[in-house]
Amino acid sequence: MSAASSPSPLRLAELVAALSLATDLGTGQPMEHALRVCLLAVELGDRLGIGAEERRDVYYIALLRAIGCVADAHRVAARFGDEILANAQLSLLDTAHPSDVVGLLLRQVGQDQPALRRARMILAALAAGLDERNQVIAAHCEVAERLAQRLGMRNEVALGVTQVYERWDGKGSPRRIRGETIGYAARIVTLARDAELFYRLSGVEGAMHVIRQRAGTLYDPTVAECFVRHASSLSHVLAADDIWDTVLAAEPGTRPVLTAASRERCTRVIADFVDLKSPFTAGHSSGVALLAAAAARRLGLGDAEVTALRQSGYVHDLGRVGISVAIWDKPGPLTASEWERVRLHPYYTERMLARPQALARLGAVAALHHERLDGSGYYRGIPAALLSMPARLLAAADVYHALTEPRPHRLAHAPEAAAEQLLAEVRTGRLDPDAVQAVLGVAGHRATVAHREWPAGLSEREVEVLRLVARGLSNREMAKHLGIAEKTVGHHIQHIYNKVGISTRAAATLFAIQHDLLNNLNDSAE
Ligand SMILES: [Fe+2]
Repeated sequence: MSAASSPSPLRLAELVAALSLATDLGTGQPMEHALRVCLLAVELGDRLGIGAEERRDVYYIALLRAIGCVADAHRVAARFGDEILANAQLSLLDTAHPSDVVGLLLRQVGQDQPALRRARMILAALAAGLDERNQVIAAHCEVAERLAQRLGMRNEVALGVTQVYERWDGKGSPRRIRGETIGYAARIVTLARDAELFYRLSGVEGAMHVIRQRAGTLYDPTVAECFVRHASSLSHVLAADDIWDTVLAAEPGTRPVLTAASRERCTRVIADFVDLKSPFTAGHSSGVALLAAAAARRLGLGDAEVTALRQSGYVHDLGRVGISVAIWDKPGPLTASEWERVRLHPYYTERMLARPQALARLGAVAALHHERLDGSGYYRGIPAALLSMPARLLAAADVYHALTEPRPHRLAHAPEAAAEQLLAEVRTGRLDPDAVQAVLGVAGHRATVAHREWPAGLSEREVEVLRLVARGLSNREMAKHLGIAEKTVGHHIQHIYNKVGISTRAAATLFAIQHDLLNNLNDSAE
């Protein structure tokens, strides 16, 4: 097996910051919104003279503030159509003003529906009113608290994320607590969030105007007064360029690095967070992860590769959070523009995980889960030679698991029917035969994959090696790409030479020769 490279260290703050990028997109904000809120809240806390522990709470509450957004997505979507758009608009409102909320309902509800149905939907939304909003936020907060606990946050942070929708005047949600009953850290974060939002829309003057206007109703007046007094000096935070590094450098107190066990637990939390987005995907991410990892073990990949693949599986659909559940849960065919948005989700996964090296490695494989060997996949549409064995396993596991789950437009397939579809994908050259064989094997199927016939008696794996040699990869790089030992790569190369009749003395010109050979192989396989 390939040498097990030890994973790069991963700080808890890095993982939580990456998660905050997902909640930004899920709530209709640009990525890095929560990072700016975090930095602003910590600096504002400093101006208010908060203590060390509270400073740390502010930091994590700001990053985790919207982590419950997936819990309410389908209910908001059922009412408004696109919950991400609705969340973006709701974030600007003072929800204690009924006319603002009614205005939003009139603008958003049932936009794409015929007039009569739309009128009914608006009436139903008005009748449901604040009670429904309270229920939605209660579900959001319950999930946020639970996820924060599972990420290892202390109680003050887990409680804090349930208080960021409360208001100083007691007209917030979900518990309608007021004044100093709301934790100080949550009060600071609530204001910092709006300050970032309105600064982005209308500059420091615009932010100061809104904060002044809502001081004593939505915000703690002391916190509001402090912000207004220091707004100019705080604006560097809101306009900072490389916010990721700045936020990571600003983590107060000790900076915990995840152990192997806590890395496993936290990536699993990401899986559950993602799957909450739609009732159709319950258990999908962790199911795919475990299936891919078991298949990798069956193919003989080493411990480190298996662990990395499992964790890539946990996070593979993180980008789904950035696409409206109205699209994911649409019972009919998607329009071209809806498809375009769906095709973005592996890209979002990759970008959300791009910054810490440890997560970037997981994200690089995760982002390939919809790629296909014939180049027909997304988001890049890359060919077989660029798809490593872990990526192929993840793709096969994702397809199998998804087929055995219900979707809005179909029932769940029986395992045998799902297996048959996977085999069909192998026959059309879209999924890797070894990966599919391994996935079906660990899923309890006895089906055997018919391998494609290659000239000169070359095996599938040997053709694979040939393609990589043609790309100029070294034996070591090929071993890593294929998840096999370097020595085994050497054996494959020797077998190729034997079968196609090229002596080892021709090695110096191998690269060019194999380009031609590869073309011939592809031609004769058409
Ligand atoms: Fe996906």
